[in-house]
Amino acid sequence: MTPYKILVATVAITALAACSRQDVPDLNSQNPTTGRWYTAEQVKQGNALYDANCISCHHPRGSGTPDWRKPLADGSYPPPPLNGTAHTWHHSLQVLLNTLEEGGIPMGGKMPAFGKTLDDEQKLAVIAYLQSQWRDEIYSQWLQRQSPQ
Ligand code: HEC
Repeated sequence: MTPYKILVATVAITALAACSRQDVPDLNSQNPTTGRWYTAEQVKQGNALYDANCISCHHPRGSGTPDWRKPLADGSYPPPPLNGTAHTWHHSLQVLLNTLEEGGIPMGGKMPAFGKTLDDEQKLAVIAYLQSQWRDEIYSQWLQRQSPQ
């Protein structure tokens, strides 16, 4: 290969790697600041998105409704905590992204869909923010539950 071809190939590989990293984050990567898959900037962006879109139902910092296990009169459930004290951490990243995309209404719930309001990068940022509220123990249990990529 000529040096020029090597350069072209290197640029192409770097661009590809950057692309796939953004689409599906490497969950086992450890960001130097957070020690987790997400950056501090994602948490900050997610915090602002959470306060604008989710706080009215899920309460500050994802603390949720105290009685979230008790069904309402219509059989649906109140907004649960998202801060690691309920069962949000039982769901894989893909399931969490789908919940934001489609909401809970198709499954008889009340959660609105955010597929048209939040793009994928914003959904990941909100999830990063929620996970920043999870204790290390909860986060590592969530990580172990991810299906192999
Ligand atoms: C209008 C109230 C409302 C808003 C706004 C809302 N949610 Fe929800 N959310 C709910 C309810 C109620 C549920 C329980 C399932 C259902 O009824 O759909 C839920 C469930 C969830 C779940 C599943 C939790 C679990 O443990 O299984 C996640 C994750 C979630 N919401 C995240 C969010 C995020 C992030 C936002 C903002 C982008 C948001 N919600 C905005 C009401 C809301």
